[in-house]
Amino acid sequence: SEVIIVPSAREAGILVADLIVGLVRRRADAVLGLATGSTPLPVYEALVPHAALLRDVRGFALDEYVGLEAGHPESYRSVIDREVVAPLGLDPARIRVPGDDGGPLETAGERYEADLEAAGGVDLQLLGIGATGHIGFNEPGSSFASLTRVKTLTERTRRDNARFFASPDDVPLHCITQGLGTILRARHLVLLAFGAGKAEAVAAAVEGPLTASHPGSAIQLHPRATVVVDEEAATALR
Ligand code: F6R
Repeated sequence: SEVIIVPSAREAGILVADLIVGLVRRRADAVLGLATGSTPLPVYEALVPHAALLRDVRGFALDEYVGLEAGHPESYRSVIDREVVAPLGLDPARIRVPGDDGGPLETAGERYEADLEAAGGVDLQLLGIGATGHIGFNEPGSSFASLTRVKTLTERTRRDNARFFASPDDVPLHCITQGLGTILRARHLVLLAFGAGKAEAVAAAVEGPLTASHPGSAIQLHPRATVVVDEEAATALR
């Protein structure tokens, strides 16, 4: 993968927004792979001045919690609507989040895969990375061939995400996430990471052995993976 070290998250946001703008100029109805959490927010902010270009884009989120009531402010459907759809003036119907189609959870993964395929696949997939090395919510042990399915969140990930909830116990135990196999089908992967807390996970993803124990290492299998990090997240790279 290509590693780009930028001075700040803000500059990473501008750089990646430029990649997206370039893509959308070539293809107005490009399919964007959306991530949630803190990491992609500077990208979404940097896209605001280009919102007019994005009218026809389609979007597929990486993952969603299982068990939150519909409309819960921390459901990823709500987060995407608040952080991406509203500021960019997108049509919410052009964005899919796993499990948001009202069908049964048991088959939600299959329906999501079918919708992804019908859309022609993801052109550019935004990725953050968790301290456990997860991308999407593919925690250690996830198969490189996995598709969208229900998974259990690790205690570490639940603790890391507790900041978004009133109490740590409110963080759901389960999620539905694109698999590593799903993610690897996207035509361009753009992984972002900021801060010293991500340095080990970034090094393991970029330079570590290809192993299910570090799901982020799956990006090494992708012919077009761009890793955009700040100085602190780059400190463990050789
Ligand atoms: C979010 C996702 C996760 C996050 C990761 C990092 O949709 O799939 O993999 O990207 O947990 O989270 P932040 O960015 O909050 O540090």
